[in-house]
Amino acid sequence: MIEIQELTKVFGQGEASVTALDHVSLTVQTGDIYGIIGMSGAGKSTLLRCLSLLETPTSGRVLLDGRDIAAMSGAALRGARRKMGVVFQGYNLLMQKTVAQNVAFPLKLEKGWQKDAVEARVRELLELVGLADKAAAYPAQLSGGQKQRVAIARALATSPETLLCDEPTSALDPLTTQSMLKLLRDINRKLGVTILIITHELTVVSAICSHVAVIGEGRVAEQGAVETVFTAPQSPVTRQLLNREV
Ligand SMILES: Nc1ncnc2c1ncn2[C@@H]1O[C@H](COP(=O)(O)OP(=O)(O)OP(=O)(O)O)[C@@H](O)[C@H]1O
Ligand SMILES: [Mg+2]
Repeated sequence: MIEIQELTKVFGQGEASVTALDHVSLTVQTGDIYGIIGMSGAGKSTLLRCLSLLETPTSGRVLLDGRDIAAMSGAALRGARRKMGVVFQGYNLLMQKTVAQNVAFPLKLEKGWQKDAVEARVRELLELVGLADKAAAYPAQLSGGQKQRVAIARALATSPETLLCDEPTSALDPLTTQSMLKLLRDINRKLGVTILIITHELTVVSAICSHVAVIGEGRVAEQGAVETVFTAPQSPVTRQLLNREV
């Protein structure tokens, strides 16, 4: 379970400061597919960066299974990082490395992986994401959807409990979006991975999320079961998002 409590992130100081997150609180249950939706600049990527320990919150806490991640160090911190796979907005692939080398990268950073075991794991992951035939290709030779699949395979390499995906479908056409959502659903069902999806597309949330938090200007406008939030929106931020797509 991931509990985000009163998370605030302020960039810069004084008049030039930007409050990207303003007392954000939400809980993601283990095994859930949880959506975070909001307009551009709402603070979604900042929230993901705070969750994945890439950014230090200004205040507030993130609890992983009841433990404050800010209080962790050494092995506990490495363990927490390992439990969370991140798929960044824009893939962040290593362009000079092949698909297989990209997927192997997180394993190389861990101790105890023999060459054969790495190769077997990479093969397994590329099969899972449907890219077994692209192991030797370079990212520049792939389509956007294929790059996204490589990023997902890489994020899953160390068998995380949670997958954090930032806009996994924003650069994809509707058909490719559907196959990406199917892959994420399979990862959730078959591997039991909790998934947190950041998106600005209502259709993505409706298609695979069971819970959603609507973020507007760094605050949680509302949250709850997707059906409830989308059929009876309480917040103007949600209504605006819904109207935009009617
Ligand atoms: N490193 C930074 N320094 C200063 N301001 C930042 C930084 N990162 C983000 N911000 C600001 O914080 C706010 C939230 O940005 P964020 O990237 O989290 O938005 P987002 O919801 O992910 O948007 P998008 O849908 O466009 O990806 C924006 O106003 C942005 O300019
Ligand atoms: Mg973003």
